[in-house]
Parts: sequence; C-alpha cells; structure tokens
Amino acid sequence: MAHKKLFIPGPVEVDEGVLKMMSTPMIGHRTAEWSDLQRRVSEKLQTLMYTSNPIILSASSGTGLLEMAIRCTTAKRAIVFSVGAFGNRWHAIAEGNGVPADKYEEQWGEGITADIVERYLSTGKYDVATVTHNETSTGVMNHLDELAEVFRRHPEVVWCVDAVSSLGGVKIQVDELGIDICVTSSQKALGLPPGLSLASVSEKAKKRAAEIGNRGYYFDMLQLLKYVEERNFQYPSTPAISHTYALDFSLDRILTEGLEARFARHRGMAEYVRSWAKKHFALFPREEYASDTVTCISNTRAISVKDLNNQLAERGFTISNGYGALKEKTFRIAHMAELRKNDLEELLGQIEEILGIGA
Ligand SMILES: Cc1ncc(COP(=O)(O)O)c(C=O)c1O
Repeated sequence: MAHKKLFIPGPVEVDEGVLKMMSTPMIGHRTAEWSDLQRRVSEKLQTLMYTSNPIILSASSGTGLLEMAIRCTTAKRAIVFSVGAFGNRWHAIAEGNGVPADKYEEQWGEGITADIVERYLSTGKYDVATVTHNETSTGVMNHLDELAEVFRRHPEVVWCVDAVSSLGGVKIQVDELGIDICVTSSQKALGLPPGLSLASVSEKAKKRAAEIGNRGYYFDMLQLLKYVEERNFQYPSTPAISHTYALDFSLDRILTEGLEARFARHRGMAEYVRSWAKKHFALFPREEYASDTVTCISNTRAISVKDLNNQLAERGFTISNGYGALKEKTFRIAHMAELRKNDLEELLGQIEEILGIGA
C-alpha cells in the first residue's frame, strides 16, 4: 500500500536517514562499543533536556517509564494532575501497580493551574506529583514554568513530567524547572519509530526510590540507574540497539538544526495551523494552553472526520480523529519532528479542497 504521510501525533513521519540508521548491523550489548553509543546518546539528551541528571533508556514505549516513575518514587501518596486521557492513564498505572494515588482531573481543553497544584500540595498528603506537559488527547500544553514555582515551595514532592509528545519540539529546561523525572518516547518529536523511551532522573528521585520496597523488576529505576552510573552506560537487559543508533543520528540532526531554531520551527508550524483552525473551525483547547506539537480542532462544521480521513488517505495523507470521547467532535493535526510549514500548507490545502471551504 502506498505510504500515507503522517500528520498524527505519533508515530510521526520518519525520514530516510533515520530509517537507514535503524538497519545498522548489530553489536553486542556488553561491549565498549555499546557503552560508547549509550554514553554519546545520553550526553546529547542532557543537552536537549537542559539537565545534568543521568538519562535512563528503556526498550519500551513511554508508558513503561511513566510506570517506573510513579511506582518507584511514591512512598506516601501520589497526586496525578490530569488534563486528559494520558493524565488519566498515569492514574490508572498507579492503580494497576497498587500505588496509592489521587487524581485531580481538569476539564478537558483547560490546563492545570498553579493554584490547583498549590492547593493539593499544601495538604501535605503527597510526596509525588505528576503532570502531563503536553496532553495529546486535547492539544493542551501545560505551563511548566508557572507550576515550577509551586514545586519549589514543596521540595518534599518528587515532580514527574510526561513530556512524551513535546520533548524535542518544545523547550523543557529540566534542571531550571526542577523536574525530577522527565519522560519521553521515541516516536514523537524526536522523529524515530516507536519502541524506545527515555527519562532523566534527579538525585532526589533516586534517593526516594531507595525507600521503596517493591519497585518491580523491569522498570526498577535503581537497577536502570545502576547500569548507567556504575556499569559504564549499560542496560540491565538487552537494549534497543537499532533505535539507539537512530536516536544518536536524530540527536545530531536536532543539535545541528539548533535547539532554539527547532523550537521556533515548531512554534511557527503550530501558529500556522492554529490560525487556519480558527478561520475554518475552532480550537478545542483554551488558546493560552494550545500545544506547539499538536493542534486539536473542534469540529464546528460537523463534518465526518472519518470520511475526511478516508479522502485524505486517497491523496496520501493521514490526520487523527479526536481521542476517545472526543472522536468526531474534534480532530487533530500534529506538527512535530521533521515536518515543515510547507508540509502543513500542502495538507491544509488538501483539506480545504476536500471540504470545499476555500482559502
Ligand atoms: C502525552 C502522552 N503520554 C503518554 C503516551 C504513551 O506513550 P507510549 O505510547 O510511548 O507508551 C502518549 C502516547 O501517545 C502521549 O501522547
């Protein structure tokens, strides 16, 4: 079947250079060659994430590391700040692991405010809080800088951030913000195929993990860290070697583009799609929280999103329907990784033609 260009919020279009790196011949993972590769990738990720914290790689998708984060750091009780489906998932992960956790769920389309976070943390009930930076189901991007001020006042709380659909496209200054665990997946703004995830882990999170009796096995954060820090950039089991080669290549490209230029490109694409959405439909999220990597559009014309996508498919494009309860009520256009404004111009031109809505 002919390839359809992906404008969905992950997996994203993966360019040929990255795909080629995925087919690099294998090496043994208990070798100096592997350690070298993992160290290189970690150092580049530290640059991208503005952190000196160690980086954990995981041969799983991001959900695995979300599980690691909440399970390995909650000694008392976690509070999950949810603004949509992926925030809710983090709470379900806690429940599935028997981790005591409460959830505050914001109305979909809204972001989480500093006041809400303060209200919960000041109860003294919680030693972990999770925030979804970029909620892919609603197109909401939370304001981490505003929330960081609250977390600074509550140093007893380990702050975990899901940056799965933003890291690599949006600036996240992990150390300055004081994020203890920051998680992302390969298949979003890093521009890789799915199958690898990574997280930065602070000393505070590491100390907390040492107090937790049952951290599980595969996602035991202390085991993962031990292999990085004490065994010279190794992985407790077999790492995702192909993905790591591809990530090394992709990070070189990201750093060559320049971080500020990359973030500005994502912002520019987002602004372009947002202004189109406002002209022809409406934005689903409150605009001040609108995401720089995915735009969630309210289906104010009551079109059939399914039919639109079928017609787009015939022309070689794919967008996303709304997520869960938002299906057909919204649709989503992603603008992340290696897409450029002209790709979006082409896509939106096709949509206008199909819907007969003109420029
Ligand atoms: C915001 C967010 N969090 C978590 C996930 C889950 O990540 P993964 O599919 O890599 O496990 C996704 C996936 O789309 C996501 O968008």
